[in-house]
Amino acid sequence: MMKTIRLSIIGFGAVGQGVARVLLDKKDLLEDMGLDFRVVAVADSRTAVVDMDGVDLNVALSRKRDEGLVGSDRIRGIEIIEDIDHELVVETTPTNIVTGGAGLENMLVAFKNGKDVVTSNKGPLAIRYSELIKTSEKSGTRLRFEATVGGAMPVLNLAREVLAGNSITNVEGIFNGTCNYILTRMMEEHAPYEQMLAEAQELGYAETDPTYDVEGIDTACKLVILANSIFGMNATYEDVTVAGITRITPEALLLAQNDGYVVKLIGEINDSRINVAPKLVPMFHPLAVGGSLNVASIQTDLAGPITVTGRGAGSIETASAILSDMISIYRD
Ligand code: HSE
Repeated sequence: MMKTIRLSIIGFGAVGQGVARVLLDKKDLLEDMGLDFRVVAVADSRTAVVDMDGVDLNVALSRKRDEGLVGSDRIRGIEIIEDIDHELVVETTPTNIVTGGAGLENMLVAFKNGKDVVTSNKGPLAIRYSELIKTSEKSGTRLRFEATVGGAMPVLNLAREVLAGNSITNVEGIFNGTCNYILTRMMEEHAPYEQMLAEAQELGYAETDPTYDVEGIDTACKLVILANSIFGMNATYEDVTVAGITRITPEALLLAQNDGYVVKLIGEINDSRINVAPKLVPMFHPLAVGGSLNVASIQTDLAGPITVTGRGAGSIETASAILSDMISIYRD
């Protein structure tokens, strides 16, 4: 039997548009699973389009591409969440890791209105994790956020579901594609940091404010989300020791390379501390992945070490994590 899930996409930048594309591409596959995801509203920062019979996603994508706006109605995302009958909010507004931004309010209002949330938005989860979890539980709604850490690379659901029953003692890895890209290219080209940052921005890996990437702030937020959701900590950004990559020179990378090492921005969580810092990693170590890849190595008591790698950023890649969360909620 087909189950229809009415949803809104709140935030129609790279990730929100990726979700629309993936829903179009995977329509038949989803129907084979008995799932009809019907998008009843799409909102960007200034406009929205609403259609209870299902928004035409091809039209929404073309309009956004051609006119820069998804609709003509000046409706805010939060009004859609409050006023329009639907089951699921896909929250993909830009992240704000100081206040939580519109995303935080969107999620809290969604729960209060009995709606499930799937999100890629790190800020709200990094600063108000326990409040979001409690509000969602209290209202009997579901919150899933695999896309907030490592993009397409499965890590949260891997640790919480696939490795269920294991005690996790340590997680370390590369959780920022922009920094990994910059360090990899600086080493390959012996080129200055600024040039490689500009490349990472052009490729769409960097945050709107790339300071978040290169100062280690983005990695720290992802570690807070991991620490809270996998280790059951009650951590915030203040609990993370953070150093970024801005002072690393091509000469330092060359010296490391001559000794058989690469420099990587490594995030690490164990039961006593959460830390982000550039570290020397042996060239053939599993954490020494190149380009914009992310990697996570999870130490478990029963399964031993488990290492995963994958694309940590990108529109379709992040939408992949969102889609898998959507399917997990409604498949059963
Ligand atoms: N700016 C982030 C990165 C995007 O480079 O990894 C994904 O969170």
